[in-house]
Amino acid sequence: MLVATYAERPDLASRLGELEDVWPEFIHHASLNRHWPRLREEFPDFQLVLYDDETDTLMGRGQTVPFRRDGTWADLPDGVEGVMQRVFEEGGEPTTLSALVAVVGPQFQGRGLSRLVIEGMRELAARQGLDALVAPVRPTLKARYPPTPIERYLTWRRADGELFDPWLRVHERLGAEILGVCPGSLVVTGSVGEWEQWTRMAFPDSGAYVVEGALVPVEIDREHDRGRYVEPNVWMRHPV
Ligand SMILES: CC(C)(COP(=O)(O)OP(=O)(O)OC[C@H]1O[C@@H](n2cnc3c(N)ncnc32)[C@H](O)[C@@H]1OP(=O)(O)O)[C@@H](O)C(=O)NCCC(=O)NCCS
Repeated sequence: MLVATYAERPDLASRLGELEDVWPEFIHHASLNRHWPRLREEFPDFQLVLYDDETDTLMGRGQTVPFRRDGTWADLPDGVEGVMQRVFEEGGEPTTLSALVAVVGPQFQGRGLSRLVIEGMRELAARQGLDALVAPVRPTLKARYPPTPIERYLTWRRADGELFDPWLRVHERLGAEILGVCPGSLVVTGSVGEWEQWTRMAFPDSGAYVVEGALVPVEIDREHDRGRYVEPNVWMRHPV
């Protein structure tokens, strides 16, 4: 099993289409996606592939970007959306590495491989002389509890003391600490028709709707023909 950057292994980066899509359709319409292609073009040293060289199988990816952190740890940009804005619209000499996404292909999940991706990100931060790896973590089981405020959800722990959410738990186990909530880490807006198409649901009234794969309800406004989803994530910091 190896973790390599796109710059080190362009041959593997060009095979990323082999990874199965893991996202609900609406995520593909997030406003931050406008920046996504630039990561590959401008930051190939900060994008990772997870690859099994024995079986020649692409198993996952981990994407990060270095950004300028101003102020305290409590004063980070607003999650993935905020980091992208800072990097691509404001600039500045980078100080800190931000994780943006980690994916393990569905057929390879549940084998502890995510750890390799996070460790790979941490190594990148160290190698590039950055002061920490921070991650706007998308808690994977939150989608089953959409009405619960994320501030409460992130405090839930199991009887053994470990965090309830499996993905927050993996980060904590690797030494990360929770810094707080980033309320608008990913934003998706569209017409009511687009939302109906993305979710295969009908939204006859204005109001909040629980949608499969969404961490919080989607707000539908029929009068203005608009649906809006604002996804909160949880900032965590790994020492490097
Ligand atoms: C999140 C993700 C990267 C985790 O990768 P993974 O290699 O499957 O994770 P692991 O095998 O290391 O498992 C991590 C923990 O989650 C638990 N877990 C895995 N799948 C689970 C599920 N469907 N329900 C509940 N817990 C689950 C595991 O038991 C493990 O917890 P434990 O060690 O306490 O038992 C992977 O599921 C994924 O790519 N998901 C889709 C994309 C995503 O949500 N990425 C994260 C946000 S960017």
